[in-house]
Amino acid sequence: MSHPNLSVDFCGIPFENPVMLSSSPVSNSAEMVGRAFEAGFGGIVYKSIGVASNESIHPSPRMAPYHYQSQRLLGLQNVEQLSDRPFKDNMADLRYLKKHWPGKVVISSIMGFSRDEWRELALASEDAGVDMLELNFSCPHMTVEGSGMAASQAHALVEQFTEIARKAVKIPIMAKLTPNITDINEPAMFAKRGGTDAISAVNTVAGMIDIDLTDFVPRPNVFGKGAIAGYSGPAIKPIALRCIAQLAQNSELNLPLSGIGGIETWVDVVQYMLCGATTVQITTGVIHYGYRIIEDILEGMTYYMEDQNLRSIDQIVGRAVPNIVPTDRFDLSRQGIAQYDLERCIGCGQCYIVCQDAGGQCLSWDRADRRPHIDDRTCLGCMICSFVCPISNPPLITYKEVSNRPPIIPPVSRD
Ligand SMILES: Cc1cc2nc3c(=O)[nH]c(=O)nc-3n(C[C@H](O)[C@H](O)[C@H](O)COP(=O)(O)O)c2cc1C
Repeated sequence: MSHPNLSVDFCGIPFENPVMLSSSPVSNSAEMVGRAFEAGFGGIVYKSIGVASNESIHPSPRMAPYHYQSQRLLGLQNVEQLSDRPFKDNMADLRYLKKHWPGKVVISSIMGFSRDEWRELALASEDAGVDMLELNFSCPHMTVEGSGMAASQAHALVEQFTEIARKAVKIPIMAKLTPNITDINEPAMFAKRGGTDAISAVNTVAGMIDIDLTDFVPRPNVFGKGAIAGYSGPAIKPIALRCIAQLAQNSELNLPLSGIGGIETWVDVVQYMLCGATTVQITTGVIHYGYRIIEDILEGMTYYMEDQNLRSIDQIVGRAVPNIVPTDRFDLSRQGIAQYDLERCIGCGQCYIVCQDAGGQCLSWDRADRRPHIDDRTCLGCMICSFVCPISNPPLITYKEVSNRPPIIPPVSRD
C-alpha cells in the first residue's frame, strides 16, 4: 500500500507537507532556508521584515534559555526585534528562494509602523514572488505604538492593517496573533473583517524566565537590564494549543489555521492538527535540535497515519474539536478510582505521601512490606498518585471506571 499523503492545501497553496519554520532567526536568510528545505520542511515564514528606514539593532544578548531541572530549553526568552538585515537583501533572498525552490512555500512576514509601511511591505513582498504574507500583529516586546502585540490588542488596528494588505496584494494573507489577550477570537474576527485568508497563532507569550539573585537583572541580561518579553518553546504549548482550539471552535471565524508554539515532535504536530490547524510552524524546536527534527516529524506522522489507517491530513484536522467542551458538559454520573499493580511496586512511598497531602487520604502505608493499600470506597480517582509513581512503562497505577459509584466527597474530621 502507498504511504499516506502528507500534502495539504492551505489558502489555495499546495504544501508538500504541512510543517514550516516560523518567522524568527531560524528563517533569517536564503542560505538558512535552503538548508531547511533540503532537510524536508514544506514551507517557511521568513524572519519579520520592516521597511528599509526601520532596520533594527538587536539587543545583545537577545535570548536566554529556561532550563528546568534536567530538561534543557523547556522554554526560551527572547528580546529580538525585526530583521536586522538590509531590506534589499531580504527581498533579494525571498526572490531567490522562490526561484530555486518553486515547490516549497515561502511566506513573507511583515510588520509596519504605519498604514503606508504595511502597504509598502505587502507590495514589495508580492513583487519578490512570495506565496503568501503573514502579518505580524503579535511580537510582545515592540515599543512602537500600535505595533506587535499592541496591534492584536487594539482590534481596530488589526482590521485596518489587514485591510491595507488585502487591498494591496492578490496573494493570500494570514494574520499572526498574540496569546497575550483575554480572548484570541476578538482580534481574529477583526482580522477576518479586514479580509485575512487565515490565522496563525501564537507568537510568544509575554514572560520573564529568570532573575539573577545577585545582580537582580532578568535574563537575558542586556548590560544590566532585562525585559518582559517573548517566551517560547515546549512550556508554551498548552497555551498555544488552547488558542488554536478556541479559534477552531469559533464557527463564525471558519478560517484555515496555522498552529505555532512548543512544537518539537510529530506528536505535537498531530495534536495541533487535531485541534484544527492545517499547517504548523516551529522555531524553538529548531533552535534546540536543528533543521533535522523535520525528518523525525515526517516519519512519525507517516507511521501514525498508517497505524490509524488515515490516508490524508484532512482526516486529522479538527478531529478533537467536538471533544473539547465546557466542564459543565462532562458526564458526572461516571466515576472511577486508581488501581495498583503491586507486583511491580518498588516501595518508594511517593503515592502515599501525595495521597495524604493532596489527595483523598485513601491510601494506608504498610511499613512491614512497604506497600500502599488502597481503600476503594474513599479513593477520589484524582490519579495524582500515578503522576508521581516512578513506574510508568507500563504504568503501575491505572484508572478504572467503577459502576454505580457516587462522587466521593472527602470526609471532614474535627475533634
Ligand atoms: C528569537 C526569536 C525571534 C522571533 N522573531 C519573530 C519574528 O520576527 N516574527 C514573528 O512573527 N515571530 C517571531 N518569533 C516567534 C516565533 O515565530 C514563534 O511564534 C514562537 O517562538 C512560538 O513558537 P516556538 O515555541 O516553536 O518557538 C520569534 C521567536 C524567537 C524565539
